[in-house]
Amino acid sequence: MSGVTNSRLDRLLANLGYGSRKEVQAIIAGGDVVLDGAPIRRIDAKVPLTPDLPTRLLIEGRPVDPPPPLTLILHKPLGAVCSHREPGRSVYELFPRRWRARQPVLSSVGRLDGDTSGLLLFTDDGGLLHRIISPKKHVAKRYHVTLARPLEGHEGALFAEGTLMLDGEEKPLAPAILEPLGANLAWLTITEGRYHQVRRMFAAVGNHVEALHRDRVGGFDLPADLEPGRYRIIGESELAAVFSAPATT
Ligand code: URA
Repeated sequence: MSGVTNSRLDRLLANLGYGSRKEVQAIIAGGDVVLDGAPIRRIDAKVPLTPDLPTRLLIEGRPVDPPPPLTLILHKPLGAVCSHREPGRSVYELFPRRWRARQPVLSSVGRLDGDTSGLLLFTDDGGLLHRIISPKKHVAKRYHVTLARPLEGHEGALFAEGTLMLDGEEKPLAPAILEPLGANLAWLTITEGRYHQVRRMFAAVGNHVEALHRDRVGGFDLPADLEPGRYRIIGESELAAVFSAPATT
């Protein structure tokens, strides 16, 4: 048994966002879909959903989009928002337009605030998403924090205790690791993803976060050559790094 999943060609293209079932059937009938060098005109042709599919299947002369499961890393720029409900430019606008029609849906793995930059993963694999964001999995997220006021020196011990209660919450935060880098600069590593968590942690100790940037999730670092606003698809080894990291740096 090969273990490779096949999909009907018209269903695959519709699920990748190339158009409605009718629209993609017209593209196929026009001879604009080429597999391994030969046009395929049968809408019910079975196509193997392997990661190398974009090297084998061309749509109107271009490599087909990657089939599921698709996982990406985005260097989220400042100002882009993760939620469809927030005003502002959505992070999804940084991807090709047709990706918004993909099935299964591509979602961000957790969220970053509009005024936070850095490493943001996206996936269409619900199980993977859950494994990364679940607090039980203890996947560490590291933030570079710029503060309005100097650290006082007691914050690290308090964050590490696992007793800090944020306003309006009923459960204390899990222990977090603070590594001062200067009077107003620090790394903060947390394993949860509560709403505005880092900003609220510093507000709880009378400080204010001026700038926030995430550079690491698990053992996976934001690649130095990935500019803000750029994304790339990640494979098995980078995904393994997400789960391989210790909670400390
Ligand atoms: N904590 C915050 O306060 N904001 C983010 O974007 C991420 C973590």
